[in-house]
Amino acid sequence: MNTNAFRSSWNCRPRTVVRGLRATGALALVALALLPVRAAENVWLGSLDLSHVRQGWGQAQADKTVTGKPLSIAGQKFEHGVGTHASSTFWVELGGSADRFQAAVGVDDGTTSDKASVTFKLAGDGRTLWESGVMRRGQPAKPVDVEVKGIKSLVLLVGDAGDGTDFDHADWADARFIVSGAKPQAVSAPAEPAVILTPKPGPAPRINGPLIYGCRPGHPFLYRIPTQGERPMMWSADGLPATLKLDPASGIVTGTAPDRGEYEVVFNARNRHGSAKRMFKIVAGDTLALTPTMGWNHWYAHYDRITDKLVREAADVMVSSGMADVGYQYVSIDDCWMNAEKNADPLRVGPLRDAQGNIIPNRHFPDMPALTAYIHAKGLKAGIYTSPGPRTCGGFAGAWQHEAQDAARFATWGFDLLKYDWCSYGEIAEKDPDPELVKFKKPYILMGGLLQQQPRDIVLNLCQYGMGEVWKWGAEVGGQSWRTAGDLGFELNRIFEVALKNAEHRDWQKPGAWNDPDYIQIGLIGNARGMGEPMPCPLTPSEQYAFMSLWCLMASPLFYSGDMGRLDEFTINVLCNPELIEVNQDPLGQCARVVPLGAETFAMVKDMADGSKAIGLFNRSEFPAKVTATWVQLGLKGSQRVRDLWREKELGNMSGEYGADVPRHGGVVVRMWPGP
Ligand code: GLA
Repeated sequence: MNTNAFRSSWNCRPRTVVRGLRATGALALVALALLPVRAAENVWLGSLDLSHVRQGWGQAQADKTVTGKPLSIAGQKFEHGVGTHASSTFWVELGGSADRFQAAVGVDDGTTSDKASVTFKLAGDGRTLWESGVMRRGQPAKPVDVEVKGIKSLVLLVGDAGDGTDFDHADWADARFIVSGAKPQAVSAPAEPAVILTPKPGPAPRINGPLIYGCRPGHPFLYRIPTQGERPMMWSADGLPATLKLDPASGIVTGTAPDRGEYEVVFNARNRHGSAKRMFKIVAGDTLALTPTMGWNHWYAHYDRITDKLVREAADVMVSSGMADVGYQYVSIDDCWMNAEKNADPLRVGPLRDAQGNIIPNRHFPDMPALTAYIHAKGLKAGIYTSPGPRTCGGFAGAWQHEAQDAARFATWGFDLLKYDWCSYGEIAEKDPDPELVKFKKPYILMGGLLQQQPRDIVLNLCQYGMGEVWKWGAEVGGQSWRTAGDLGFELNRIFEVALKNAEHRDWQKPGAWNDPDYIQIGLIGNARGMGEPMPCPLTPSEQYAFMSLWCLMASPLFYSGDMGRLDEFTINVLCNPELIEVNQDPLGQCARVVPLGAETFAMVKDMADGSKAIGLFNRSEFPAKVTATWVQLGLKGSQRVRDLWREKELGNMSGEYGADVPRHGGVVVRMWPGP
């Protein structure tokens, strides 16, 4: 039953001709009298095509909550409306022919937690028309009655009120348009052309990659000098420790890491178009990953379809696409390379371990040492995955009670990185009487120690979704990076929120210790919920640029997780801008500081080792915006030389403030050096 109290006040009366006559002359009177009179009518929001609604969880439902139940806000029931979930965006084309939008909004009673809190907002042709403020569970529905006359594009937005989207069931109850012209149409957000911003690399050599590199003395050393430019190319190095050798034709350095100490090396590259130089400091000691790790991980492209062949293909493409020339290095296998007790694919079912307890890869991985050798031959590194629990998240064999054996196995197979994913370890932790924090740390202390005992460098990526504030202790247990949150694949429409949350932990980040907000998911990726085949990602071109910009400014590990076999030019362009990657790989290792600017705009400011600053200006709103930051906000003084990093273009000297037109859900990134 509809008990909406203010329904009676809504303006549903037919329009009369009389109102239109007052200010018109006799001619107009005649003309108007000949026009058919249209009565204003109600168009329920729920009658529009709700497949256009983009939201953080589930699907928008007509006349029901997001979970399919009757709509109810603080005990008040509603027959009509749209049940959605934060963060939600719904674009409606009104074409100027609607008069009013009316609704009653609130958090649905069906949510199971008091943590539910949302904001509702209406934006019309780039202007905010109405905002609810923060609304929580149990709060009575707020009436909305907004004039939308003349508005062409209306956007209905539900935000997470800044505390994440969990439990945020939101209702546009009794929502309707009062319309006297054409019926409103639900549409997708405006299409954007995939504009390539970065000029193609020139034919002359340009050496990229980190300026500083950590390794452990006496361990195997492998480094492919990331260099753009036409081949053939010849490389040389000054100051290379005697235990290392550089292949001049491939630019790959191999050998044994030197004794503890710092070694200043200069790499040189030459081809028929010119030459280039770059510093490379080798620090032989205890700390690995002195700059954020970069590579590819199979998860969001291939899920439980991963094979040896696909991993080899990724290694091939990392080189052929130019990704390795800007610094991508690790080719990483995620879950599902082991056997499971049960799986739809018979080739992934078999004994989990041999008679000695050694882990057995499934039949899609016939020869792990051959696979890592294939990757290493290209100068790249290999990554693998397991869980401290008995089973991985995908239900495959985990390392529980075989940790030492598995760590040794990964080392002999030749892996250079391990992602250690909590998954079923919860079952073990549950029975453990120790305090919570001790339980969170325990499996990682064990594996961190074991990896340090191996005769090769194996970088440890902790994956436990941020439990126990992992950023405070991830480095102490032997990790080089740690996921700060759950799977980003489920939250691709929230990259700004996820980034802002990740950046809150900036003080804990330093060289060798990185906050990991999860992988770059652009180009072709499979929908994370359905673990589907790779398809074009749901992000707009501007969102993809913003994604990469945020990750570079935060000095996050840069792992692409999309289909390498079908990389297109646009995706390569977003992944491979060497000036953005230089920001990511800067030796200071700083995560940018966030500077709020407007309600939906902010800056990120990252100090660079050379005294410059990398600055991102971001626009989270549904419409293009001019975003301006002053020198005071950015921590700058005097004249600055400004360079647009995506376009690799000098913008001249500026003082006082910098502003840019930033597209919907987009960002611009500049670097500023004290000038002139
Ligand atoms: C978890 C992790 C993901 C991925 C899957 C594999 O969800 O967070 O990154 O490794 O497991 O099952």
